[in-house]
Amino acid sequence: MDYLQNRKENLRKQVEDIAELSALPATVVQVMDVINNPKSSAADLASVISADPALAAKILQVANSAFYGFPRKIATVSLAVVVLGFDALKDLVFSISLLQMFSGGRAEQQSLRKQFWQHSISCGASARFLAKKLGRRLPGESFVAGLLHDIGKLIMSQYWWEDFKRSLELAEREDITFREAEEMTFGANHAEVGGWFAESWNLPAQLAETIYYHHTPLMARTDAQLVSLVHMANILCHQMGFDANGRPRELVLEKKALEPFSLNGRRMSEDCLLGMQEQVHIQVQKATVFNHILNAG
Ligand SMILES: [Fe+2]
Ligand SMILES: [Fe+2]
Repeated sequence: MDYLQNRKENLRKQVEDIAELSALPATVVQVMDVINNPKSSAADLASVISADPALAAKILQVANSAFYGFPRKIATVSLAVVVLGFDALKDLVFSISLLQMFSGGRAEQQSLRKQFWQHSISCGASARFLAKKLGRRLPGESFVAGLLHDIGKLIMSQYWWEDFKRSLELAEREDITFREAEEMTFGANHAEVGGWFAESWNLPAQLAETIYYHHTPLMARTDAQLVSLVHMANILCHQMGFDANGRPRELVLEKKALEPFSLNGRRMSEDCLLGMQEQVHIQVQKATVFNHILNAG
């Protein structure tokens, strides 16, 4: 095995160790168990969520926000389960817990963190919007996928802050993309790191794949549609200034990833995608409830 390959393997092992140490909160695991059990009822789910009052409060906060836009107030978790349904609730529990898990960090990382979550939440909201617009089932899953797509960056900055900073500087100085700079510094890029993490966490295969291939969507195999949606959402967010770093040449749209999609009977195009910015902006605004959750800790 050559040096580079060796370095990559080492990093992968370290990422797997990190994933093992940062286990999902117990409530999330219980919620997943209830949802995956075909015998579960709405009451079962409501009782698991209600046992964690902080989580329950946050679920109600999002359920009553513009993100869902329900006309009536949802006052109890039981009603939230009925109105939102199992799938939407699963996505919500997952998103809220992840935001909580990764909300810490050192003072010097704070502004980068803030930008990171702004980008991730925007990307989630955009992916959800695109999913609805382009006729995908369960748009909530696209929100989670968008929220998580850059999680590799979060891990790299949390555990290897000095190297991460060095790769930011390297990209700036050499005028290369972040991924190239990450590869030079770490031996792997954030998409790979995030993908390894998701795999060791046993996240659903389509989520791990989206994280792994969000910059190279044509390589996706399990759920190419989801990967392409997040790829498009990521590009849109960069175009609109909701990016994690503000480097215009950073991202390239893989036009072929648009081909399977159509809108109003016409094939999806780059112009059409970029023309959605105004509508996407509204959706991103509606997702600010997630920023509040993050800031509340
Ligand atoms: Fe990325
Ligand atoms: Fe991104």
